[in-house]
Amino acid sequence: MKKIILDCDPGQDDAVALALAMAAKDEFKLLGVTTVAGNVPLKLTQRNARIMCEICHRPDVKVYAGADKPIVQELVTAEHVHGKSGLDGIDIYEPNHPLEEKHAVDFIIEACLTADDNSIFLIPTGPLTNIGLAMKREPAILPKIKEIVLMGGALKEAGNITPSAEFNIYVDPEAAQIVLKCGRPIVMMSLDVTHQVLTTKKRVDAIRNLGSIVGQQIASLIEFFERYDEEKYHIDGAPLHDPCTVAFLLKPDLFSLKEVNVEVETSGKFTRGATVVDYWGVTDRAPNVKWAYAVNDEGFFKLLNEYLIKL
Ligand code: RIB
Ligand code: CA
Repeated sequence: MKKIILDCDPGQDDAVALALAMAAKDEFKLLGVTTVAGNVPLKLTQRNARIMCEICHRPDVKVYAGADKPIVQELVTAEHVHGKSGLDGIDIYEPNHPLEEKHAVDFIIEACLTADDNSIFLIPTGPLTNIGLAMKREPAILPKIKEIVLMGGALKEAGNITPSAEFNIYVDPEAAQIVLKCGRPIVMMSLDVTHQVLTTKKRVDAIRNLGSIVGQQIASLIEFFERYDEEKYHIDGAPLHDPCTVAFLLKPDLFSLKEVNVEVETSGKFTRGATVVDYWGVTDRAPNVKWAYAVNDEGFFKLLNEYLIKL
């Protein structure tokens, strides 16, 4: 059973990643859900994570609030994609599910320090502020981390928040650089691969017809979320970014990976937050990331439905 910490900024696609992780009770020991400012401000991302714990009937899952702004720059949010609540598409309410007192960064540090070496999987699906702060404050957590499977970055896909940068990396490039330099195994689910898993009408209908209330709610979340990208890219469906991370840990052979060096641009006037990927090894920079470049999209949605039906 994998010990995981899911660090997120719900966001509808984070919500689907949370649902997938919470459905996989036999595969994951979900040590905690940590939340960060990103798609919407922290007070909403932590509330949305707690709503998802109630929707997925997981009163046991502990939710922590973390950083309310990036390490250096001011917060940039994405209500234009996710709506004002961050979870537009379903009825929003104040959940009873408690918010833990402890700060998310303190939780990440304590959970790692008390764990065995090479035992913790970190799954960041938002800006990397919490993870970067934990690593900077307590480097002793690094040997405890077995793998980081994050959603972020872009190479062959253009940026989605600026012409050259993907949102999660763009919001906190300094935190992203700390994580990319940490020396632990990293798998990056960038836009290059998430744009291959599109929420087509047929696939959303299949989720809605799973026969559970959760399926209907997930379908409604996706239908709100996808409208922005459908209009922008003129396609059927939107890239379902964040669940690619959890799906990788459940069924890695769905994805094709390539070991590459990835740096983050932190000073470019037009390119701040861009992931500079040495895809063809033209520099002497050592590989630090397994970059996902292809995915079996049918297999991804089959896996998603196999687990969502358990909720
Ligand atoms: O660029 C896509 C990423 O930014 C996803 O994680 C989405 O939830 C937003 O956080
Ligand atoms: Ca996210």
